[in-house]
Amino acid sequence: MRSSIAPEKFNADSFRIFDKGWFLLTGGDFYRKSFNAMTVSWGGFGTMWGKPVVTVVVRPQRHTLKFLDAGEDFTLCAFGEEFKEALTFLGRNSGRDVPDKIAKAGLTPMRSDEVAAPAYTEAELVIECRKLYRGELKGKDFCEKSLIRECYPDGDFHYFFVAEVKAITGSDKYKKQF
Ligand SMILES: Cc1cc2nc3c(=O)[nH]c(=O)nc-3n(C[C@H](O)[C@H](O)[C@H](O)COP(=O)(O)O)c2cc1C
Repeated sequence: MRSSIAPEKFNADSFRIFDKGWFLLTGGDFYRKSFNAMTVSWGGFGTMWGKPVVTVVVRPQRHTLKFLDAGEDFTLCAFGEEFKEALTFLGRNSGRDVPDKIAKAGLTPMRSDEVAAPAYTEAELVIECRKLYRGELKGKDFCEKSLIRECYPDGDFHYFFVAEVKAITGSDKYKKQF
C-alpha cells in the first residue's frame, strides 16, 4: 500500500537507495501507450534551484533516452526484493529489441498522479519527476581522469537529468515517523 509522502518526510538511505536498491526509470506517456523503462543504480537526491530534485544518468545508447527527451517528465520506481530478477531483466534487455519487456518482467503500468510517465501497481515507491535540466558529461570536464578509462572505454558518456520531485508515494518504510 502506497500513500503520499512529502519530500521532507521522505525516509531513504541516501548512499544505498540507488546503489543497492535500484530504481526503474520510466519515460514516456501512459495514456498514449508510448513509454519505456530501464533499471538505474546511479543518481541521487538533493536540492537545486530551491527545489527538491533527483539526478539520473543515462547513456546515449539507451532506448529510454528517446522517451525521456520526448517528454517533460519521468518516474523512478522502487520495488521489493522479489522484483530484483525483474529489474535485472529490465536492466539487461533493451526495449529496442524486446518491445514488450515491461510486460515480460511482470510489471503492470498505471497512471501517475502528476506526470505523464507511468508508475507500476507493483511498486513500493513511486517518485514523479519533472525535468528541469539536461546535461552531457564530457571527457574534458572530468577532474578525475581515471574515471574516463574505468567507466567510459567506449566513449559513451552519460547524459544527466536534474528533475524536480513533484510527488512521492510509498509504503510506510519510506516515510519518516517523526
Ligand atoms: C543494476 C543496473 C543498474 C543500471 N544503471 C544504469 C544507469 O544508472 N544508467 C544507465 O544508462 N544504464 C544503467 N543500466 C543499464 C540499463 O538499464 C540497460 O542498458 C537497459 O537494458 C536499457 O534499456 P533500454 O535500452 O530499453 O532503455 C543499469 C543496469 C542494471 C542491471
